[in-house]
Amino acid sequence: MKHQSRKSPFQRGVTYRALKLKKRSRQLTRGLSGFFGRNRKSPLYLSMLLGLFALVGAVLLATSHQATSQAIAQRLKEDLLGSLAMVIPEKLYDNDLVRDSYGFKLKSGDERIIYPAAKKGRLSALAYQVTGQGYGGSILVLIGIDSKGQVLGVRVLQHAETPGLGDKIEVARSKWVLGFNGLSLGNPPAEKWAVKKDGGRFDQFSGATITPRAVVLAVRKGLEFFEHNRLKLLNRQSEAGS
Ligand SMILES: Cc1cc2nc3c(=O)[nH]c(=O)nc-3n(C[C@H](O)[C@H](O)[C@H](O)COP(=O)(O)O)c2cc1C
Repeated sequence: MKHQSRKSPFQRGVTYRALKLKKRSRQLTRGLSGFFGRNRKSPLYLSMLLGLFALVGAVLLATSHQATSQAIAQRLKEDLLGSLAMVIPEKLYDNDLVRDSYGFKLKSGDERIIYPAAKKGRLSALAYQVTGQGYGGSILVLIGIDSKGQVLGVRVLQHAETPGLGDKIEVARSKWVLGFNGLSLGNPPAEKWAVKKDGGRFDQFSGATITPRAVVLAVRKGLEFFEHNRLKLLNRQSEAGS
């Protein structure tokens, strides 16, 4: 006896559509694998594959960049705040040094970022970066200075000097950089703002004069910048300085 289907017309319709879909997807899979199988060595296939990898790579890169950039920016801000706290005593300010920072246009056209420290709205100190040319390249120095032009603190943020020779400019390796505290342009007099080998007041390191010379010069230039632009800096003006 012939088997009688007990499915309703609706169920039969669903089964029919499912079978049709399965057949279509099988045809598509066969078609694609046929194409890629036949054309595995064709330039079109290879460039499509390359394009696909590039696309996947770009999407992954963009996603991870978006996910990490905020965290990196936050970490950089924390690092900067940490360095700023080393060159300006915390008791001197109650503002956010990074949020209140501004660009001071130099005559050269460059811009110097100024971090103003204020207590109850009154400017008490400033911090900014200066650069020296050492043995291994640029030395990035952060200098904190009070409103009278006296050095509050100096820290080397970045350098490429030789370990064991020029890296004594790092506070973690030597106290040398603390020797700037409390000094100003007139104390010692201008001609003494040099290493001892050049007739100045500051120690050089044994076998390494270029590095400390560069830092002394950078700090001196930082003090001169304050001296030349004192009024503008104290009034938080950001236009042309020297
Ligand atoms: C491999 C090598 C690395 C050096 N690294 C430094 C350095 O980081 N900082 C530095 O001041 N001198 C460094 N020096 C020594 C300088 O060349 C120079 O002799 C020294 O700074 C003394 O300088 P002066 O002749 O001006 O007194 C290095 C020398 C050599 C051979």
